[in-house]
Amino acid sequence: MAKTYNIAIDGPAGAGKSTIAKTTAFELGFVYVDTGAMYRAMALYFLRQGIAKEDEKAIEEACREIEVSIRYEDGVQQVLLNGENVSGLIRTEEVSNMTSATSVYKSVRQKLLELQRRLAATSNVIMDGRDIGTCVLPDAQTKIYLTASSHVRALRRHKELLEKGETCNLEEIEQDIIERDYRDMHRDIAPLKQAEDAVFLDSSRMTIRQVVDGIINAARERGLTL
Ligand code: DC
Repeated sequence: MAKTYNIAIDGPAGAGKSTIAKTTAFELGFVYVDTGAMYRAMALYFLRQGIAKEDEKAIEEACREIEVSIRYEDGVQQVLLNGENVSGLIRTEEVSNMTSATSVYKSVRQKLLELQRRLAATSNVIMDGRDIGTCVLPDAQTKIYLTASSHVRALRRHKELLEKGETCNLEEIEQDIIERDYRDMHRDIAPLKQAEDAVFLDSSRMTIRQVVDGIINAARERGLTL
C-alpha cells in the first residue's frame, strides 16, 4: 500500500484547529480527523454513568465497556459511542470540562491511540488534537502548532455560544480556557506541547485563509505534491 501523507495539527482549545483543518482537508482532498470528538464521546459516557472525574479506577473499568468509532456523512466526521451517533451531544461546556479532566488518564488515551493511528495509515489525513505531532503520529510529514491568545480564543467561543442562543459570560469562558490549557499542558501523559519539528502559527491576528495557506505551503515544502 502506498504511504499516506499525514498533517498533524496540535494546539490549545479554541485556536481554530477544527475550522482550519476542515477547510484544509477539503482543499487538499484529505480526510479530516477530529480526535477531540473521540475524547468527548468517552467523557459523555463517563458523565452518563455518573462517574466522578477523579475516579480513575471506575474510568479504567468503564473504558472496557466503550467502543468509539467514526464515520463520515457528506464528508463530515460523525463520532459513534457504542454505535450511537453522539456528535450532537458532545459540544457542551459540561462535556468539554469532563473531557479535559478525563483525557489525562492512560486507559482513556490508550483506547484511542490505535484507532487514530489506523486512520492515518489508511488515508491521507489532517488530524487535530493535542498530542498528534508529539505522540500519535511522530512521523507525520507536516506538523503544525496552532495557537492564539486566551482572550482571542474566549471571544471566539463567546460568539459561537451566543450564535447558538446560549447564555454565557466572557470572563468565565476565558477562565475556563486558561484552566483547560493548564490541565492539557501539564498532565503526565502526552501533554500539549509543540513538537520540535512543528511549524508555529499564532492565529490571533490571522484570517482563516492566511492560516490555511500557511499550512498548505508548509506541506508543499515538505513533499506534498498535490
Ligand atoms: O479539541 P477539543 O476541544 O475537542 O478537545 C477536548 C479535550 O480533549 C481537550 O481538553 C483535551 C482533550 N484532547 C486530548 O487530550 N488529546 C487530543 N488528541 C484531543 C483532545
